[in-house]
Amino acid sequence: MRVPPARVSFPAEDRAEILARIDEALTTGQLTLGPIGRELEAAFAKRHSTQHAVAVSSGTSALEIILRALDVDGREVIVPANTFFATAAAAVHAGARVVFVDCDPETMAFDLADVEAHLSPATAAVVAVHIGGLISPDLPALAKLCAARGVHLVEDAAHAHGSALGGRSAGTFGVAGAFSFYPTKVMAGGEGGMIVTDDEALVDAAHTYRDQGKGSFLANFHTRLGANWRMSEPHAAIVQSQLGRLDEFIAARQAIAKRYDAAVDDLGLRPLHIPADAHCNYYKYIAYLPDGIDRAALKQKMREQFDIGLSGEVYDTPLHMQPVFAEFAGRPLPGAELIGARHVCLPLYPSLSETDADYVVESLSTALAEMGPFK
Ligand SMILES: Cc1ncc(COP(=O)(O)O)c(C=O)c1O
Repeated sequence: MRVPPARVSFPAEDRAEILARIDEALTTGQLTLGPIGRELEAAFAKRHSTQHAVAVSSGTSALEIILRALDVDGREVIVPANTFFATAAAAVHAGARVVFVDCDPETMAFDLADVEAHLSPATAAVVAVHIGGLISPDLPALAKLCAARGVHLVEDAAHAHGSALGGRSAGTFGVAGAFSFYPTKVMAGGEGGMIVTDDEALVDAAHTYRDQGKGSFLANFHTRLGANWRMSEPHAAIVQSQLGRLDEFIAARQAIAKRYDAAVDDLGLRPLHIPADAHCNYYKYIAYLPDGIDRAALKQKMREQFDIGLSGEVYDTPLHMQPVFAEFAGRPLPGAELIGARHVCLPLYPSLSETDADYVVESLSTALAEMGPFK
C-alpha cells in the first residue's frame, strides 16, 4: 500500500541500540522485572510528571490493575461509550458493573453532563479516554466533579503519550493513568503498558498484581488475585527507545496534522478542533465527513483507486452497541453513535512524507468530488 493508515518508526540506530540492550538482558539472564524496566519506569514518570510509573504487560492490564487496586468490585464504573473494548472489559474483569455514558462529538470524549447525571452512591470510578490523543477541555471539570463526589477518576491514556492540557500531562488529572505500547500507538513496544500515579498505595498494589499477586518477588505467597501482567526486559528496551523519540514523533505528527488542517476545510471535512491550550500528540488525525458521503464507499475508493488506507476509526461501533456488553447497553447514546458513524482518520505517522500527505489530500479531493453531492 502506498500510504498505509499507520506505520511504526524504528530508525536504524534505534534498532541497533534496542538489540544491544536485549543482548545485555540475554547475557545477564535478567529477562523480566529487571533494570531496563526500572529505568523505563523512572524515565516515563519523569516525562509525564508523576511520582511513579509501573510497567506492565499491556494497556488493558494497566487499566485492570488500576481498577482492581481501587477496589471497584461489585460497584459501578462509568465508561464513555466511544472507546476501545478494553476500557470497559478491564472494568468488568475487575468485578465492576459498567455504566456507559454518552460522548461529545466536539471532543469524542465523555459528555460531562451525562457523566454527572449517572454518578450515584454506587459509582466507584469514572474512566476518561483521550481519543486520538486529545485531552478534553472538560477534563479538569470532570476531575473536580469526581473529587467533590468522592469518586476516583482514572485516565485511559492509551492514545495520549506526551499529550497535555494547560501544561498538564495526560495521566495526571485523576488518581492514575494507563498507557499502551501496542504497535499502532504513538510509542510502539510490541506489547506493553504503563501505569502512572502519585498514589503510593496504588503503586504497591500494582507491583503485587502484576506479578501473580505475590507479596514479594522471591516468595510464592499470594496476597491478591493478580496475574502475569509483567513487562519483559526486551519489551522494556523497545519502549525505552521509543520514549527517547517521543517529542520528535509528536512534532512530526503535528507538522503533518498542520498540513492536513490547511487543506481539509476545502474538502468539506471538519477536523476535530484542538483547543489552544491542548498539546495533542495526534495519535490520530480525525475529521468528520460531509453529510451524504458514505464512509465505507469512500474508504474502498481510497484503497482501490489510490492505494491509501483510511482504516482505524476510533471507534466505529460504540461499546453500548457491542454484543458482548449487551447487559450494560441501557439506552441510545446519540453523541457516541454519531461519532462512530461519521468520522474518518487520515494516515498519520512520523515517517509520512509531505509528498504523501499532499497525495492523500489530492486523492481525497478527487474521491469526494466523484462521490459527493456537496460540490
Ligand atoms: C483506548 C484504549 N484503551 C485500551 C487499550 C488497550 O491497550 P493494549 O492493546 O495495550 O492492551 C487500547 C489499545 O489498543 C486503546 O486504544
